[in-house]
Amino acid sequence: MTSFQAIIAEHASEGWEKLWKATTTPWDKGFANPPLVALLEKVPQEVKMPEKGQAGIRTLVAGCGRGYDVEAFSRLGGWDSWGLDLSETAIEEAKSWYSSLPTPSTPIGPVSFHALDFFTFDLPSGAFNLAFDNTFLCALPPSLRSAWGTRYAALLPSPGSLLITRAYPLMDAAEMAKGTGPPWGLNMEIYQTLLPEESWKKVWDGEGGEKGRLVVWERV
Ligand SMILES: C[S@@+](CC[C@H](N)C(=O)[O-])C[C@H]1O[C@@H](n2cnc3c(N)ncnc32)[C@H](O)[C@@H]1O
Repeated sequence: MTSFQAIIAEHASEGWEKLWKATTTPWDKGFANPPLVALLEKVPQEVKMPEKGQAGIRTLVAGCGRGYDVEAFSRLGGWDSWGLDLSETAIEEAKSWYSSLPTPSTPIGPVSFHALDFFTFDLPSGAFNLAFDNTFLCALPPSLRSAWGTRYAALLPSPGSLLITRAYPLMDAAEMAKGTGPPWGLNMEIYQTLLPEESWKKVWDGEGGEKGRLVVWERV
């Protein structure tokens, strides 16, 4: 078991708060995920992204940490952009980082950060239309993976809604057998199983950085 896995397993959900309080946040790059930004800046034709500034579009980044990807949805899409994290410290950090940014010169979508549990929070009316999962599935103990898939289906109920996954860290069978992460390893078969064809159509699969792919799933 890696040290991350041990902290999370030992302290259950409080493990994340403990990591944030200790500023043990090695996943934090300090900027939005570059493949996501590239996708939003130049949307591939296979991806039916909502129009920029389209009214009524609400986006979600679960396990948002300091919220860089939330800001990217707001700035590049102009949508109502929610960031959600279990750790109150993460959400305080996100609010503080966001409020430190210069006032944008062009209109952007509203941004809000919420200290909530992805699995249990009350869905807002209309739920969500677009979500980005960035190093969130790999942060969950494998026992929660099937609930992760079920929950995204509930959070993005309308046909045509999009789930963008940064599939990471992708590993072959030998690496997977070692049981390392960070925090837990993944492969594309796991994503396919959790996002079954009856509910999701994989519409795009692109470069996602080292050990990663950026994959877009459309709700059917
Ligand atoms: C590996 S970090 C990734 C953070 C961010 N996505 C990034 O790439 O910088 C995983 C995040 O998920 C949060 N988290 C873990 N379990 C959660 C849950 N059940 N609901 C919401 N957030 C959760 C943790 O607090 C942590 O900030």
